[in-house]
Amino acid sequence: MTNSVINHFNLRGRTLGKLGPLLHHPKIKHSTQPPSQTKSSYGKLKDEDRVFTNLYGRHDWRLQGALKRGDWYKTKDIMNKGPEWIINEIKISGLRGRGGAGFPSGVKWSFMLKPPDGRPKYLIINADEGEPGTWCLLAGFAMGAKAAYIYIRGEFYNEASNMQVAIAEAYQAGLIGKNACESHYDFDIFMHRGAGAYICGEETALIESIEGKQGKPRLKPPFPADVGLFGCPTTVTNVETVAVAAAILRRGGSWFASFGRPNNSGTKLFAISGHVCTPCVVEEEMSIPLQELVERYGGGVVGGWENLLAIIPGGSSTPCIPQSVCNTAIMDFDGLIACGTSLGTAAVIVMNKQTDIIKAIARLIVFYKHESCGQCTPCREGTSWMDKIMARLVDGNARCEEIDMLYEISKQIEGHTICALGDAAAWPVQGLIRHFRPEIECRIQKNQAMKCCQ
Ligand SMILES: Cc1cc2nc3c(=O)[nH]c(=O)nc-3n(C[C@H](O)[C@H](O)[C@H](O)COP(=O)(O)O)c2cc1C
Ligand code: SF4
Repeated sequence: MTNSVINHFNLRGRTLGKLGPLLHHPKIKHSTQPPSQTKSSYGKLKDEDRVFTNLYGRHDWRLQGALKRGDWYKTKDIMNKGPEWIINEIKISGLRGRGGAGFPSGVKWSFMLKPPDGRPKYLIINADEGEPGTWCLLAGFAMGAKAAYIYIRGEFYNEASNMQVAIAEAYQAGLIGKNACESHYDFDIFMHRGAGAYICGEETALIESIEGKQGKPRLKPPFPADVGLFGCPTTVTNVETVAVAAAILRRGGSWFASFGRPNNSGTKLFAISGHVCTPCVVEEEMSIPLQELVERYGGGVVGGWENLLAIIPGGSSTPCIPQSVCNTAIMDFDGLIACGTSLGTAAVIVMNKQTDIIKAIARLIVFYKHESCGQCTPCREGTSWMDKIMARLVDGNARCEEIDMLYEISKQIEGHTICALGDAAAWPVQGLIRHFRPEIECRIQKNQAMKCCQ
């Protein structure tokens, strides 16, 4: 049961539609729920509530600097409270995985609390895109893991170098390794650099990659919690998810749950790029309105909000939404599902009216075609097929019936593949057709009219 439910959350932009049955599963204890809260406005996070205190790398990133900022504080005390306490506190916080699928982290971590069967357990930190820190020990301890592997994208050269130094300093200070933090618990951390394939962010492809094989997703079941790294129970967790966990344990689950709307709690890193005046990464409260996020931190849309064409709210796989929808969109899991899109990784891509949106989406399909590992026919063939049609739609060199054909292909890919890269390729096309069909048709008609004149 638990495994089949995990499957539904194992992708970057997928919704929490199947959460209901899981939350009532008899084997999963929910001794405490996130407290209800009655706030009606969200945003303007205070500095003292920020989890990422060196987000822009302006302060000392080495151990001494981290200690001054409060990292590692109370780590031993927290470990003394035991794995159940840690997992329960994460449940109270309402934290949902920041890797894209939004699966409740406390529930996911509790899957590792199985009776020992002689195999070691592992924690994998998925930093295929992210920024590391000092939090692996607590997450690993809560799961009974012997070691953590931090999988970091190969292109993040400076970050990986700094991380290796940070790991060495933590070993020297006795914070990790044998008797970590004098807790009588042994915990090793290894860093593994990827080579930049997008598919290696998918948890089972990532496991294959650490094992030294090609990064190709595995068929599930078995799921990593049963058979993961080196055939042992493993949890793969996004780097931001684990990074906020330490703050939650120090400040309490209820503190974290007090931000954002119920079921969407916490603070979140938002990356704002595209046609904005000041592209940036910022930590803000969940449930902040999209327009406020873009205007306050992104410096507004180039040419003003009225010059906004569309926004991709959660990374390249999430369907774009037009300005009319952006006006009222709320930046959290439920808010974006209500808009027919997804929070995904909260990478907000803004496109103003000077954008050729057909060309922009066509470029994304080129990316997904290139990143497909080729194992599944719908993904391998479907992305190539969509790419060819999209390239012709950019020029208008197509028939209007092909728009429906393109939509149908995307539907044949979605949900019919081993991993969610297929879905990720299908959704941008679906968003384009849903909101910008008249633009596509208009371009086709113009092209036909030009041909007639020639
Ligand atoms: C094609 C693809 C790429 C992915 N890339 C990443 C990634 O770069 N980082 C990440 O944390 N999760 C990525 N995921 C999701 C992971 O499989 C996994 O769900 C996630 O690491 C779980 O972390 P969480 O529970 O903290 O959200 C990707 C999924 C797919 C299908
Ligand atoms: S969906 Fe695509 S990327 Fe994922 S396993 Fe299948 S072919 Fe590979």
